Amino acid sequence: MHNNNILAIASGKGGVGKTWLAITLARALAVSGRRTLLFDGDLGLANIDVQLGLHPRHDIADILAGRVAPEDAILRHEAGFDILAGRSGNAALASLPETMLTALATIPGLMADRYDIVLLDLAAGVDATMRRLAAVAGSMLLLATAEPTSLTDAYAVLKRLARECPTLDPAIVVNMAGSLAAGRATHATLARAAAQFLGRAPRLAGIIRRDPAVLAAIRRQTLAPLATAACEDATALTNAWFAGSEPGWKGTTRRDALLAAR
Ligand SMILES: Nc1ncnc2c1ncn2[C@@H]1O[C@H](COP(=O)(O)OP(=O)(O)OP(=O)(O)O)[C@@H](O)[C@H]1O
Ligand SMILES: [Mg+2]
Repeated sequence: MHNNNILAIASGKGGVGKTWLAITLARALAVSGRRTLLFDGDLGLANIDVQLGLHPRHDIADILAGRVAPEDAILRHEAGFDILAGRSGNAALASLPETMLTALATIPGLMADRYDIVLLDLAAGVDATMRRLAAVAGSMLLLATAEPTSLTDAYAVLKRLARECPTLDPAIVVNMAGSLAAGRATHATLARAAAQFLGRAPRLAGIIRRDPAVLAAIRRQTLAPLATAACEDATALTNAWFAGSEPGWKGTTRRDALLAAR
């Protein structure tokens, strides 16, 4: 069962900017007045706390072990959004047994009632944890860059999810684009392949330009200033994605429309 107000952030290849975008979207959503939870679904290689320089007292591993309730593991960021942190360097978390996967996948849904939006920062690829968390999301942003390996891996995710979560209908975000035109061309390449071989072209959710301010901010373990190219693009993406949905909205998603049409 999925929740309309859970948005998953995924990619085929790693290192394409999922965690940075998830954090930046969380800030943009908080700025727009939406109650936002950022959930670190990349459990074994959790990065949100690292990118933000936070030291969570509790994390999702503590919730799974029954040491703490989900609401007591939440960390409040000064930019106005909440975080459920993962735990880095824990190999056991990277390959959870079935019962744990089920327990993990219930947490975002438990939290979704308390927030306008829950953002899931997923692990790269399509491993079991990623697919279980993707299944609880109402929608997905799938990140890719112009690199051929990123595009082929994004295509592989589309192919797998078309089979396992046919109503999820991921939308593409082209990150680290040299220009908006170059980003549109990257999306067109992926969309053409998907239309030809999967029978459905994913729509474009937005383009984020390559911007040295991103790495500079990550090095400082802070959020990049809003008035930088990549953050402006992320804000534009947020505004377009949530256009017409006011804070407090928990309306229907494209996924519901697709389900209703089946
Ligand atoms: N728009 C951008 N412009 C320039 N650099 C970027 C941009 N987005 C991300 N990066 C760079 O990409 C690196 C990887 O970002 P990030 O850790 O968010 O990726 P990820 O997809 O979450 O990786 P992983 O798959 O390992 O979780 C960052 O250190 C940052 O320097
Ligand atoms: Mg990451």
